[in-house]
Amino acid sequence: MKSLATKVALLSVISGVCGHAVVEDPPPRKTGPAQEAACGQNVVLVLEADIAGPIENAVAGADADYKCNAYLCRGYQFEDNTDNVLSVAAGDVLDFHVNLVAGHHPGYANVSIVNTATNEVVGEPLRSWDNWPDHLSGPPRDDIDYNVTIPDSLGSTCSKAGDCVIQWYWYASGNEQTYESCHDFTLSSS
Ligand SMILES: *[C@@H]1O[C@H](CO)[C@@H](O)[C@H](O)[C@H]1NC(C)=O
Ligand SMILES: *[C@@H]1O[C@H](CO)[C@@H](O)[C@H](O)[C@H]1NC(C)=O
Repeated sequence: MKSLATKVALLSVISGVCGHAVVEDPPPRKTGPAQEAACGQNVVLVLEADIAGPIENAVAGADADYKCNAYLCRGYQFEDNTDNVLSVAAGDVLDFHVNLVAGHHPGYANVSIVNTATNEVVGEPLRSWDNWPDHLSGPPRDDIDYNVTIPDSLGSTCSKAGDCVIQWYWYASGNEQTYESCHDFTLSSS
């Protein structure tokens, strides 16, 4: 049996060949006991070995306890993130910063409000980039330093924290890998 530390080290080496990016500011959803229970230890180990790594690497090593959908917020659960909920109102402009560790494999990206019960996008994407990363978009670079405006069309769909997330999504078409970061929020009246 390999030790946990050895496993994590091996996984870091494996994931070293991929693109890497993660929203860094404000801090997105993270792991915790609810995710381990929902996604199984192997998936969580791979995701945590590289928080900016692709979801595919983690799902490839899923064990029998894998019962979450890692393609929704990397399987990060609201229950582990109840102390990290943004309070927003329609019309608010929120600034985000992506830590782009490696972007050798371009693709496209978008930011959408996603209903966590159905994993469906609510309304239109808030932002989308046909070409991401885009080194020529700045300075200041609009791909890694972007804002989104909270739409006024959310109605009651996202009234409770955990019902919806603001999900950043990058699909690196070149090597077919998916990167995501999620933010929980509650809607207050503007
Ligand atoms: C936006 O992201 C979603 C994942 O949330 C993805 O399935 C979809 O293809 C993307 N849409 C566009 C227009 O890029
Ligand atoms: C939001 O981003 C857009 C596009 O990059 C920019 O033109 C605009 O000034 C930004 N708005 C705010 C309030 O920062």
